[in-house]
Amino acid sequence: MLNDPEFRQLLGHLGLLWKGYRRVRKGVKKRVRRHMRALGCPDVTSYLQKLDEQEEVRLECDRLMTVPISRFFRDRMLWEMVEQEILPQLLKKYSAGIRVWSAGCASGEEVYSLKIVWERLGGSPRRQRDLEVTATDMNPINLQRAKAGVYPASSLKEVPEQVKAQYFVSQGGSGLHRIRSFLKRGIIWKKHNLLSDPPPRSCFHMIFLRNNLLTYYQDKLKREALGRVLGCLCKDGVLIVGSHEVLPLGTHQLLPLGSLPYVYQKRF
Ligand SMILES: C[S@@+](CC[C@H](N)C(=O)[O-])C[C@H]1O[C@@H](n2cnc3c(N)ncnc32)[C@H](O)[C@@H]1O
Repeated sequence: MLNDPEFRQLLGHLGLLWKGYRRVRKGVKKRVRRHMRALGCPDVTSYLQKLDEQEEVRLECDRLMTVPISRFFRDRMLWEMVEQEILPQLLKKYSAGIRVWSAGCASGEEVYSLKIVWERLGGSPRRQRDLEVTATDMNPINLQRAKAGVYPASSLKEVPEQVKAQYFVSQGGSGLHRIRSFLKRGIIWKKHNLLSDPPPRSCFHMIFLRNNLLTYYQDKLKREALGRVLGCLCKDGVLIVGSHEVLPLGTHQLLPLGSLPYVYQKRF
């Protein structure tokens, strides 16, 4: 049940890309097979029919297709740039405070990485008001994990020991690490689907759109959703995509910012 050609058929039906899923397909296929079995679908054709007929089945399938892989300070050079250039420049320009959207935030690794950088730049409980972070994901289970803020050691492999000691609490012999609770302040967690929901608010100064929309979705869906994302980025705001991701053609509003090819500024 669900060999690769059948899986490709399912991806095509959902508007998803084989290229994005190829390397992570084992786990995704396992989840989908379980779903098919629970629904009594012996083959992909009957499963596709159920997806078309029953909205809740489709929603569950969409959730099962999400890939929650993330880690703290993924792409170290990016975080150096965020700390040394992007945040200081945004703060200089928007002294009243800045608004950041982490779109497709998985279990919060990206969001808390940002909060740690903010702290290192001199954030204090009073200044938490100056940074408003909206963190969204279509998968509510990821959001629950993000709110709990407890992570296995593998999520922290790029975190320097001193940062680990300062911002995480080790959970005894379990190998788990809990994010310190003061880092949770000022974060608005929200269930949000990039393909179908309007942006959570207008005029963000910085948007993280990494390793989701541009990796997993077919061109048409990607373009429409990216258009909505750019619509809520302020002029001169910063868009950060994944280090291996490429923008679709026709995004003239964006120009590269600095030395990393996946960091952009919205020019108009
Ligand atoms: C691979 S993780 C990336 C997490 C983080 N942005 C990073 O780069 O480390 C992809 C996340 O995007 C979410 N996602 C995928 N499609 C989405 C959509 N259409 N709307 C909102 N979130 C989505 C998934 O649920 C998953 O948590």
